[in-house]
Amino acid sequence: MAFPPAFLDELAARNPIEDVVGQYVSLTRRGSNLFGLCPFHSEKTPSFSVAPDKGIYYCFGCHKGGGPINFIMEVEGLDYPDAVRFLAKRAGMEVPEDREHSSVYRKQERLRALCKEAARFYRQELFAPGGQEARDYLIRRGVSSQTVSRFGLGYSPNAWSALLDTMEKMGYTKEELRDAGLALQSKKGGYYDRFRNRLMFPIIDVRGNVIGFGGRVMDDSTPKYLNSPETIIFNKRKNLFALNVAKKSTRGQLILTEGYMDAIALHQYGFDCAVASLGTALTQEHTQLLAKYTKAVVLTYDGDEAGQNATRRAIPMLEQAGLQVKILRMQGAKDPDEFLHKFGADKFQALLQKSENQAEYRLQTLKNRYDLQDDAQRVSFLKEAAELISTFTTPVEREVYGTRAAEAAGISQAAMEQEIKRAYRRRTAQAKKRQERADLDVAGQQQPREKGIRYANLKSAMAEEQLLAQVLKEPTLLPTVKLLPEQFSSPLLGRAFGLLRQCQLEGRPVSLPSLEGDFTPEEMNHLSSVVRRRDTLVSEQAMADCADVIRNEYERTVRTGDDALRAMQQKLRTKKGYGG
Ligand code: GTP
Ligand code: MN
Repeated sequence: MAFPPAFLDELAARNPIEDVVGQYVSLTRRGSNLFGLCPFHSEKTPSFSVAPDKGIYYCFGCHKGGGPINFIMEVEGLDYPDAVRFLAKRAGMEVPEDREHSSVYRKQERLRALCKEAARFYRQELFAPGGQEARDYLIRRGVSSQTVSRFGLGYSPNAWSALLDTMEKMGYTKEELRDAGLALQSKKGGYYDRFRNRLMFPIIDVRGNVIGFGGRVMDDSTPKYLNSPETIIFNKRKNLFALNVAKKSTRGQLILTEGYMDAIALHQYGFDCAVASLGTALTQEHTQLLAKYTKAVVLTYDGDEAGQNATRRAIPMLEQAGLQVKILRMQGAKDPDEFLHKFGADKFQALLQKSENQAEYRLQTLKNRYDLQDDAQRVSFLKEAAELISTFTTPVEREVYGTRAAEAAGISQAAMEQEIKRAYRRRTAQAKKRQERADLDVAGQQQPREKGIRYANLKSAMAEEQLLAQVLKEPTLLPTVKLLPEQFSSPLLGRAFGLLRQCQLEGRPVSLPSLEGDFTPEEMNHLSSVVRRRDTLVSEQAMADCADVIRNEYERTVRTGDDALRAMQQKLRTKKGYGG
């Protein structure tokens, strides 16, 4: 049975490889990886590794490897669909094949329909005579009527059962309104509307379903905002306000704000890529969701202590989801809504353009740790900054930030440059040595260990392995690779490349676990070994070099002609002693 990709992606997200494996193997951290005794062969020193960033396990001893599903297949002796069901159960997820028939699904559908009707009701009330105060409030806050209709804003009347009465007439029960989070039950057992006399913000998921509401008071009373509680259709950890609109933006990034009003104001001023969290801290589910729709996220949290802490916390989370992070700092306004009304869209656009990227933020943080008036500390800063800057991928970045760091520390640009070069050379030398060792290791036994997988063109296959490992390490560079899967000499590696590209197009994670359903366990063992053996530095140039080798080899074999090729392959086979 084929499971929907979105379900499999969530399954992978909710079953981190280190947790799944950790239930069977005691793991110890070594650098960015974890090691333990292999559960698949007997050993006394750990050669079994888990790479959380790649989402895979791999044993350097017995060469088994793969994602969480492969692990469960192997360790529990299950076939693919049963391993999927096993992990779904572990994460408390419903398997889609059961969904259509389940009563939970039918109930969800019913509550979604109810919420849609409720949104319609609130909207009508905004334009009814009773909605005068809410309309005035919107005008006061500069919300245009176009914005009101784009976000379906509404008003909940100042009454105890306005919504209940209307919905009951439509055939919904009080209990259903309660389950949708729209009605509350008093101690005596009677029901009343949760939202009263509030400006209403419908919360719509990416599929366009109304799943909940935020409601704001129109004066200074508290609580300022009331949100729907968690229900069987509304999960704050998994949804973002306005993403249903922002996902269509062509701006190439998403702006993450703290408030509904901020997201709405941004849209009104032309920044149609703004979303807001739902009054909760950013979650892993949010970052995964964001990563489905964009490569880059701009954080525009408030400038206060809480906002800064939220920013600091959000950066590594977003990065872990493979997102590029920028931080936008505002002055003279506490949030984007206030900023836009005060200074306008052009000023915000300017901020957006110079919004500090991740590199800058890290450099800034580093700078704050040192007293740059003190000579000894300046030297330490210089060393650490050089180390940091040497990890930046492009020469331009290294130059730009090198200059900034030099200026900050009050040292000459040349000195800084030299320090960065030294750090960079050290890093590349280490990487090269690692690679040489790996190459030596491979030279004798370049052929895959897995039975049934053989490389016909070793030169090309080595480049293909290298390229695939780099793509998996830095998926953002995948679009720069101009190759067709057919140009790969190894059908297996070519197929993996093609599928990864497809994952990228579909907004799925570009990772081996995304391919678990497409390859046999043996093939996954081999792909995992490719990724773990070739742990090299990634650069666009290195990838282009691999692509060149592959293309040249491909053209050479095509030029050689089919007959000649077949003869050659035949000769190769007999010489190496592989069967036909
Ligand atoms: P305005 O004051 O209307 O400009 O809203 P804001 O978005 O600037 O509000 P603020 O920065 O105070 O809060 C940001 C977000 O936190 C809001 O959009 C809500 O999601 C949430 N929030 C704020 N106040 C409350 C509250 O009293 N209760 C709850 N549950 N959430 C709140
Ligand atoms: Mn505000």
